[in-house]
Parts: sequence; structure tokens; C-alpha cells
Amino acid sequence: MNTIVSPSLLSADFLHLAQDVEMVNRSRAQWLHIDVMDGVFVPNLSFGFPILEAIAPIVKKPLDVHLMIVEPMKFVDRLAELGVHIMNVHYEVSPHLHRSLTAIRKAGMKSAVTLNPHTPVSVVEDVLEELDMVLLMSVNPGYGGQKFIEHSVEKVQRLREMIDKRQLSTLIEVDGGVNQQTGARLVAAGADALVAGSYVFGHADPLTAISGLCDLKR
Ligand code: DX5
Ligand code: ZN
Repeated sequence: MNTIVSPSLLSADFLHLAQDVEMVNRSRAQWLHIDVMDGVFVPNLSFGFPILEAIAPIVKKPLDVHLMIVEPMKFVDRLAELGVHIMNVHYEVSPHLHRSLTAIRKAGMKSAVTLNPHTPVSVVEDVLEELDMVLLMSVNPGYGGQKFIEHSVEKVQRLREMIDKRQLSTLIEVDGGVNQQTGARLVAAGADALVAGSYVFGHADPLTAISGLCDLKR
């Protein structure tokens, strides 16, 4: 199976956002990754509904929305109304994770939990049935273009074993410092989906960069 690629809009050219969304539309990427930051959970701000509402009518790929915000469940209905495909909430801001995941599915979206680099994969063990995807951060969230944290490969392996042992179809996505080299190692370890920001949008030929990641096989 090909790897699912989710280019991160955070590294796009904000003065020519429509052009970059159209590049993703033409590409082999399966999803578009949207990074929402609040300056509270993470030490940075990115963008929110005005940008999401502007791109929703032109994007042809399902939206993979990564909420780096406290109280993400405040926005479940608005995200569902926009037609968001996957809603990722961070484990570290989710005291009632089971309730959140159930509500995301009830709103008609795919449910996903995101784990920071320090959060062990064992924390999802008792909610795996409620999860369509687990997003493992391979950098500390907040910025694009950071260095890949090596330990992430081991976390992918451990989560892959947990999912396979239970014969579940929960997807594993990895976000941060992904390029053709780190991507190949993550896919070999069991990742199904890769987020790539600076690698794709900083590449001389973004379509080829996306295609190379899509062709990675376990
Ligand atoms: C970081 C974001 C990422 C970011 C990845 O907090 O969650 O999605 O855009 O950027 P790269 O691929 O450049 O590490
Ligand atoms: Zn992200």
C-alpha cells in the first residue's frame, strides 16, 4: 500500500495560498494537514477559521486538522460543518479523551489523538477502539522546520505492534521533520501516513517530493 501523504499548509506561501492549495490538489497527496495553534498549548500562533473557511471551497483533498490548542472540543461542530475529515486533539489537553473521541465520531469526522514526543504510546491503549488514527509528533509542536527526534521511530514500532495485536485498522501518522530519509524509516517501522511541511513546500519540485513520499512502502 502507498503511504498517505498530508502536506502541512503551515509551510505554504501565505501570500499565494490558493496556488499552494491547488498544487496539493494536483498532487498525489491524499490529505491536506492544517496546523491550528493558540499560543497557550504551544508557544506560537498560526491560523484558525478565517483561513480554513477560505480554503475549504477550493481544496479537493480531505482536511487533516491538527489542533494545538487547549479546549479543542469547543470547535467540534464548526469543524464538522466545514467538512473536516479528521480532527486531531492532543492527548495532553484531553482529560476526558474517550468522551472527546466519541463526540468527534458522532459529529461525522474521523477521530484522532496526537501525542507529544514525551507522551508514551501506552496512553492510547484503552481508547484504541475509539480511534481512527494516532498522530505521533516527531518534533515538539509549534514550529515547522525542526529537527526530527530519532526516538519517534521506536514509538511507531511499539504502536504498530499494539494495533496489529488487536487486529485494528487505526492509522499511524507522524508529524515533524519528515523528509524522504526519515519518512522511509517511519514507514518501515509501521507508519501509514506522513505529514510534511518544510520538506514539501521548500522543495524545488513539491509534486516530486510528495510523490516520493507516497511511493514509500513498508
Ligand atoms: C508542527 C506542526 C507540523 C509542521 C511540520 O507543530 O504540527 O505539522 O508543519 O513541519 P515540518 O514538516 O517542517 O517539520
Ligand atoms: Zn501538524
